[in-house]
Amino acid sequence: MSEEPIAGAKIDQPIDKCKEELKDENRRKLITNTAYSAAGVGLACAILPLIDSMNPSKDVVAVSSVEIDVSNIKVGEEKTVMWRGKPIFIRRRNAEEISAAQNAQLSELKDPELDSARVKAGKEQWLVTIGICTHLGCIPLNGQGEYKGWFCPCHGSQYDTSGRIRKGPAPKNLEVPPYEFKSETLIKIG
Ligand code: FES
Repeated sequence: MSEEPIAGAKIDQPIDKCKEELKDENRRKLITNTAYSAAGVGLACAILPLIDSMNPSKDVVAVSSVEIDVSNIKVGEEKTVMWRGKPIFIRRRNAEEISAAQNAQLSELKDPELDSARVKAGKEQWLVTIGICTHLGCIPLNGQGEYKGWFCPCHGSQYDTSGRIRKGPAPKNLEVPPYEFKSETLIKIG
């Protein structure tokens, strides 16, 4: 009685030859995988410098913040400095300007904001704003207009001594940038 062949088995092929073919197959897979891995590593090596070049340079990181010595700004005066390509107004307000800013009624304001939310507690004499009109981006003039804050000559917007919009087409107050006092006379912007 003859034995039935098992499905899939190459009964007329020597077992050693089958083993050899299996080894070859595994070797092929190994070589293919290694080639893909090497290609992956090569690609990563090629891309890394590109990714690195997309990070901000040390110069750019350095100017992302600026430190300003404000000791030479007298009461009632203002200094303009540049930060990230924008003018920054640093104003040392006098008592009258502080009082006017604090006493304004929120109901009178187009963009209601308390003066205390725009300055640092205990440093009410210092107002720091981005010197760009919120209408169409002109640079307002210091100490002018009905509110003695800033007047924008382009279309007549008027800001008060807290940099808040009071009249004219500008929709928002002058923006307050991120800043902190590093000491009594040193402000870090950014
Ligand atoms: S840009 Fe300042 S009022 Fe238009």
